[in-house]
Amino acid sequence: MNPSLKRPFIAAALALFTATAFATHAAEDLLIADFEGADYGTWKATGEAFGSGPARGTLPGQMPVEGFQGKGLVNSFRGGDDTTGTLESPPFRIDRRYLAFLIGGGKNEQKLALQLVVDGRVVRSATGPNDRNGGSEALAPESWDVSDLAGRMASVRIVDDAKGGWGHLNVDHLRQTDTRPQGPRINAERSIPVRSRYLHLPIRNGAPKRVVTLLVDGRPVVRNDIELADGKPDWWAPMEVRSWQGKTVTLRVDRLPAGSRALASIGQGDTLKNAGALYREPLRGQFHFSPRRGWNNDPNGMVFYNGEYHLFFQHNPYGWDWGNMHWGHAVSRDLVHWEELGDKLLPDDLGPMFSGSAVVDWKNTSGFGKEGKPPLVLIYTAAGNPTVQCLAYSTDGRTFTKYAGNPVLKQITGGNRDPKVMWHEPSGKWVMVLYVEWQKKHTIHCFHSTNLRDWSLAQVVDGDATGKPYLFECPDFFELPVDGEPGRKRWVLLAANSAYAVGSFDGARFVPEQSNLPGHRGRGFYAPQTFSDLPARDGRRIQIGWFQTATKGMPFNQSMTVPLELRLLGTPEGPRLTFTPVRELEALRARSHRLGSVALAPGVANPLAALRGELLEVRAVLEPGDATEIRFSLRGVPVVYDVKRQELVVNQHRAPAPLHEGLLDLTVYCDRTGLEVFASRGLCYVPMPVQPKADDRSLSVEVQGATVRFKNLAIHELRSAWKRR
Ligand code: FRU
Repeated sequence: MNPSLKRPFIAAALALFTATAFATHAAEDLLIADFEGADYGTWKATGEAFGSGPARGTLPGQMPVEGFQGKGLVNSFRGGDDTTGTLESPPFRIDRRYLAFLIGGGKNEQKLALQLVVDGRVVRSATGPNDRNGGSEALAPESWDVSDLAGRMASVRIVDDAKGGWGHLNVDHLRQTDTRPQGPRINAERSIPVRSRYLHLPIRNGAPKRVVTLLVDGRPVVRNDIELADGKPDWWAPMEVRSWQGKTVTLRVDRLPAGSRALASIGQGDTLKNAGALYREPLRGQFHFSPRRGWNNDPNGMVFYNGEYHLFFQHNPYGWDWGNMHWGHAVSRDLVHWEELGDKLLPDDLGPMFSGSAVVDWKNTSGFGKEGKPPLVLIYTAAGNPTVQCLAYSTDGRTFTKYAGNPVLKQITGGNRDPKVMWHEPSGKWVMVLYVEWQKKHTIHCFHSTNLRDWSLAQVVDGDATGKPYLFECPDFFELPVDGEPGRKRWVLLAANSAYAVGSFDGARFVPEQSNLPGHRGRGFYAPQTFSDLPARDGRRIQIGWFQTATKGMPFNQSMTVPLELRLLGTPEGPRLTFTPVRELEALRARSHRLGSVALAPGVANPLAALRGELLEVRAVLEPGDATEIRFSLRGVPVVYDVKRQELVVNQHRAPAPLHEGLLDLTVYCDRTGLEVFASRGLCYVPMPVQPKADDRSLSVEVQGATVRFKNLAIHELRSAWKRR
């Protein structure tokens, strides 16, 4: 059938269906209750909140109540906010398409609800608009589309189980109607029989955020603030519903403009929408981890467990920007190829899932182990009010259970967050470093524990030598040998911007020797974390940072840096952190052009002119001698060495890069979303989010002032790390 003919046919079929379900003509409204009487009549009240009959407007001590119809309404402020109770209608038959009402008061989906009950089950629910101080007592019109319940017997129940501020609900004028209520649909719902792994939600970046709740068996299980597309979406966000396959779930949206197609357009499937383009998108970093869909910020829970590197990450599965913090999860066997496994920590009643870390509890001090398997324990911040520290655990590295005794650490001050935990073998204790704003200063609080569940404060580390605070968010704490010598170990305490302190730690106190030392020297690098529990034979300390690579127009945003090996290098000024790309990345080399040693004079034709490449690794060791400048250009992005100032200039950004014995070592990784430049034995690490022009595959190098001797020059064309499927 011609598609344009299909529509009227479907419309006619639908009309026929409606005609059988409801009277053919738009019937008159049926009043359920207007609450104009002196008592509730045949309705049954329990508890005190509803008194013995409808309120006549505002009750003593209440802000002015308005927006109700006539003189009376249901107002559960009777006796104040702390009273509770229920009020239930006698049964009635659902004989119209919509059930309309006026509602106001407190917002609490569980405890303050107007419910529609069919066969003893809550099939629709609405709550008031207020969940914080201020607000208004006004009632507003809302309605449910109940066409799927035509002919069923139902009752309406009003529940007030809430105490404290906004612990009451206002309801009035319940009626059945066939006239589509005007204005936005409040608590619009759609029931969906789950057949597949994902529901596909339509997203339009920048659209107003809607509260989208997934209800299973009438209970809210997932709740997110989502920029739903009312019309054509920018992209589709997959909501994992695998565990409810075979059930009918309900999606509820707090408010949808009339005519919105958001709910109707939701489909389901076992793969992502546009899965064919996955990892081939024009702005997908090809060897930097990024989430399949949505936003990422900090790396979390980095740990080596059962032969796999685990990378969790701050993830908004339903938005291109920050929000709805989940812990996404990816694993790798080689630090290069990552497989994303889906979200493992979802927001819950304690709040969104903020950053944290992971450890392997080898001695099962936590008791979360099973059948001799040491548990993998995640330690994270639940950023509700209060903001608290919590645990989750796994013995297979795939399924995670939140600890029933959460939280394990109460709020110290609001916004305390980002626990990083490590095992301190000599003292047989767990050590947690936590960011806490304390006495109006950024501090790191250090806690000790023997079982990961009970924590006691051991120390507060605040400012640098002058008392200036510099440790803000996402601390990390680890030990490293200076110059690789096991006898010369130092401890490093660092935070989100990678500024760090070097000092000593005896299991009780960290004593900084030098603090507020600069970490990375570039841009768009934040909240790095290092892996816990790398095998002793590995001996490395490997860090990954959040690489702030905005990817406009893509169904994903932001990424991670390549894995960086950290070392402490002895310098005349003291030990300093160095950053180098992990050797595993060499597996990406597809074609290597080793130019070996070359002398390059000013004005000589570009020796790289014949080369082309999109994903690149450049390695050079050079002796600038009397030259003034060495200028590389990779796909149009300038990487320049300013010899006089001993500075690297990456895409116009300057960073100190000292020569060592007259030599400069330089490594550049170039991806679609950014460059990472390493120089000066790792003392200079310049991450740089920048998008080379898609069609510029050129490379060049030129020098100025005098001949430069390259001891070594190699260009490697790299392959994508994403497995082609
Ligand atoms: C750092 C940070 C953390 C917090 C997380 C929330 O980027 O602000 O302090 O836990 O992001 O997403």
